[in-house]
Amino acid sequence: MESPPCVSIFLVLCIFIQSSAHGQSLGLEPFGRRLRAAETMEASQETKTRFLLFEEERDKGCQIQLNHPDTLQQCGFNSSLPLVMIIHGWTVDGLLESWIWQMVAALKSGLAQPVNVVLADWLTLAYHHYTVAVRNTRLVGQEVAALILWLEESAQFSRSNVHLIGYSLGAHVSGFAGNYIGGKHKIGRITGLDAAGPLFEGSSPNDRLSPDDADFVDAIHTFTREHMGLSVGIKQPIAHYDFYPNGGYFQPGCHFLELYKHITKHGLTAITQTIKCSHERSVHLFIDSLLHPSLQSTAYQCGDMDSFSQGLCLSCKRGRRCNTLGYHARRGPQSRKSKRLFLATRAQSPFKVYHYQFKIQFINQLEKPVEPTFTMTLLGTKEENQKITITLDEEIASNKTYSFLITLDLDIGELVMIKFKWENGSVWTNVWNTVQTIIPWSRGPLYSGLVVNTIKVKAGETQQRMAFCSENMDGQQLPQTQEKTFVRCDINSQKLKRKIR
Ligand SMILES: *[C@@H]1O[C@H](CO)[C@@H](O)[C@H](O)[C@H]1NC(C)=O
Ligand SMILES: *[C@@H]1O[C@H](CO)[C@@H](O)[C@H](O)[C@H]1NC(C)=O
Ligand SMILES: *[C@@H]1O[C@H](CO)[C@@H](O)[C@H](O)[C@H]1NC(C)=O
Repeated sequence: MESPPCVSIFLVLCIFIQSSAHGQSLGLEPFGRRLRAAETMEASQETKTRFLLFEEERDKGCQIQLNHPDTLQQCGFNSSLPLVMIIHGWTVDGLLESWIWQMVAALKSGLAQPVNVVLADWLTLAYHHYTVAVRNTRLVGQEVAALILWLEESAQFSRSNVHLIGYSLGAHVSGFAGNYIGGKHKIGRITGLDAAGPLFEGSSPNDRLSPDDADFVDAIHTFTREHMGLSVGIKQPIAHYDFYPNGGYFQPGCHFLELYKHITKHGLTAITQTIKCSHERSVHLFIDSLLHPSLQSTAYQCGDMDSFSQGLCLSCKRGRRCNTLGYHARRGPQSRKSKRLFLATRAQSPFKVYHYQFKIQFINQLEKPVEPTFTMTLLGTKEENQKITITLDEEIASNKTYSFLITLDLDIGELVMIKFKWENGSVWTNVWNTVQTIIPWSRGPLYSGLVVNTIKVKAGETQQRMAFCSENMDGQQLPQTQEKTFVRCDINSQKLKRKIR
């Protein structure tokens, strides 16, 4: 059955309406006595979750059954390899989503070291009202834990070799699995991909994914924009490393206008896809990290997106304040405190961008504040970047240093030269004419009255710091609509300049 659009809209509305109607209490009552996972499973022998092992990139999966060692052999489980388990989220149509197969393929093809890839299929428990599915996450977590404990007993498999990757509700399933296993030895790693927000936001660490649930927990937050006080993805940090691409609220390429184009092109069935766009972006960022080993995205520890947008957080401090987004994220020193990391991304794969902090000191010799728009062309040893237009959101009133973040899709190599130009000619002329009228005797040669001192640049990806000075010795006056060239202040700048293609 094709899913009609109302189902997809229901997807979003259901989360909001259901959860706001029932409030925070539903589904999160304490679980009562915390049973050892293995104990509970003993009785039933069968799990409601289906565990499917994938041998090839494109097979349909072979079911591993708890307490049936023969299924391990039949399915080709190799206990000397790590286990990566994919755990999906809530479903409105009862079907497995297409990203699952993309993730399986990426794990099978994108890693130098092969791994056992298993899908925890809990569709029968996820295909319910959101609140019911939420309640079921604990049971699924128990079943995942039971499987891991059984693998330890029967296949000499170590839990430290387990990596759970959970999307949306699946992220909390992973957390519960880690929690049920408990004890001193935890499972190796949990990755939470835009962990579900409603009914989990603000709850205690035992009631959601938390850093206690594995030796290493990383989370990617991609859709935390609020509607009626709720967000689809959880906002609060829930891991050792919490990544907030583009601030985590919403993702580029997911805006309504773009969705609209997508729908006109692909028909109404595209609606489901587009509504989930930002939520599911977490998954695609992760897949991207597997498919493009040479284009790993760096994320930077920062207090909030505002500071990040000013380019203030690009210092890695020898790796202590940076990490890699996705599969290749590095474990840091053990700390229970979550680190929040930010990065910008492109709208499509490959998602990587190159981050730069620009610090420009303006000196305004006019009496009026100005609101300039300028463009910069960045020339590097590898590439020349197209013009970037920058509009400062503050007017330049006097002498002030402005700091902002610039991101480039391309690796331009080492930055060598900046071509700088004021754009808004007409506005600018008006300002100048006004000055001319007020001070008709004019001091010295005509100049714009706005001066740029040095331009300081910090490249996030290479951690290189650079200073740029005006190329000519005619001072730093900035004539309007005329391009001005800045080169590296250091002596090697001539050598570098020759490297420009
Ligand atoms: C299991 O994996 C190891 C390491 O890659 C390999 O040497 C071994 O042959 C594999 N075993 C089987 C049964 O495939
Ligand atoms: C800005 O700097 C210039 C040159 O350094 C100086 O002449 C001018 O008085 C300064 N203006 C303000 C408002 O500080
Ligand atoms: C730049 O000029 C355009 C029209 O030429 C105008 O709409 C815009 O507001 C100007 N921007 C600034 C920052 O002055």
